[in-house]
Amino acid sequence: MTGPIKAGILGATGAVGQRFVQALANHPWFEITSLAASERSAGKKYKDAANWRLDVELPEDVAEQEVVPVDPSKVDADIVFSALPSTYAKKVEADFAIGGFGVASNASAYRMEKDVPLVIPEVNADHLDLIEVQQDERGWDGFIITNPNCSTIMMVPTLKPLMQFGLSSVNVATMQAISGAGYDGISSMAIMDNVVPYIAGEEEKMETEPLKLLGTFDGTQIIDADIKFSASCHRVSVMDGHTEAIWATMDDDPSPADVRQAFLDFDPGLRDLPTEPERTLIVRDEPDRPQPHLDRNMGNGMSISIGRIREGIRYVAMGHNTIRGAAGASVLNAELLHKKGKL
Ligand code: A2P
Repeated sequence: MTGPIKAGILGATGAVGQRFVQALANHPWFEITSLAASERSAGKKYKDAANWRLDVELPEDVAEQEVVPVDPSKVDADIVFSALPSTYAKKVEADFAIGGFGVASNASAYRMEKDVPLVIPEVNADHLDLIEVQQDERGWDGFIITNPNCSTIMMVPTLKPLMQFGLSSVNVATMQAISGAGYDGISSMAIMDNVVPYIAGEEEKMETEPLKLLGTFDGTQIIDADIKFSASCHRVSVMDGHTEAIWATMDDDPSPADVRQAFLDFDPGLRDLPTEPERTLIVRDEPDRPQPHLDRNMGNGMSISIGRIREGIRYVAMGHNTIRGAAGASVLNAELLHKKGKL
């Protein structure tokens, strides 16, 4: 392909959609050619349809673009990034794949379908080859790839280097930021001065998605990893940044120093992807880190900070939920696709 790759954003006006705009606006490989949202927004200029909430300036050319409906015939793109609500994504993303588009989806609708890649480039880049299986089975000209739930993705890259010790079970308690619920997700009266110990569907996602991500692709299907997961998920009064307390049991019983070294040695084997952080895992040795307010923007929001590694093995992981946990994850997947010649 010569020239920039044409990128559309589905759900472009929402919390994650705006992060897609931020990630793609000055991207060296992609050019935003379509911004799609609901009928409420279609026909308006992006700056009038989106309540721009990021602390970076809305790029002028994006601000003036007209929002189009979420309809394959109205979208001009080689790849579309989806930040749509999951219920709506189920039908619409298939329509785009049938229409020949590559779809990089942040929605949960297709993540656990057997022939759909669920990918974190640093963890299971080879699973992208499921695309060929998907196209054969479904007869689609396009395809769908997905990135994990925003809490799953803060945990799984930290578990990858622990696999060498015979990882057998993981317990995790999350403290999740309010931006993960979207702009209309949770009212200020409900979350200020509060912790809500329930996020619909979240614990199930954290207990199933890692099995696929840490599983093995045998050329036709993913064989799930044999690890037990138990999750407890909580919404806390933090704007951005999911924090997770993790307990990992391993057959080889490594010491905290062994685990710390494994995190430091973790080499994801990718290079030269524009959105890839210099370090996927950052180890903090201070006793009171990581903290969302201080550490969420490390690696342009793409690094996962780890601290408090103790006997057990117990530690804390934290990352930016709408960047590493959503838009940045999708864009990194698309960059890997391009690098593998699949776009
Ligand atoms: P709109 O802003 O026009 O409502 P969030 O996760 O922040 O709630 O954002 C959801 C995104 O998905 C927004 O861009 C929203 O557009 C879009 N969206 C929600 N429901 C639909 C729908 N039924 N059809 C098309 N786009 C939708």
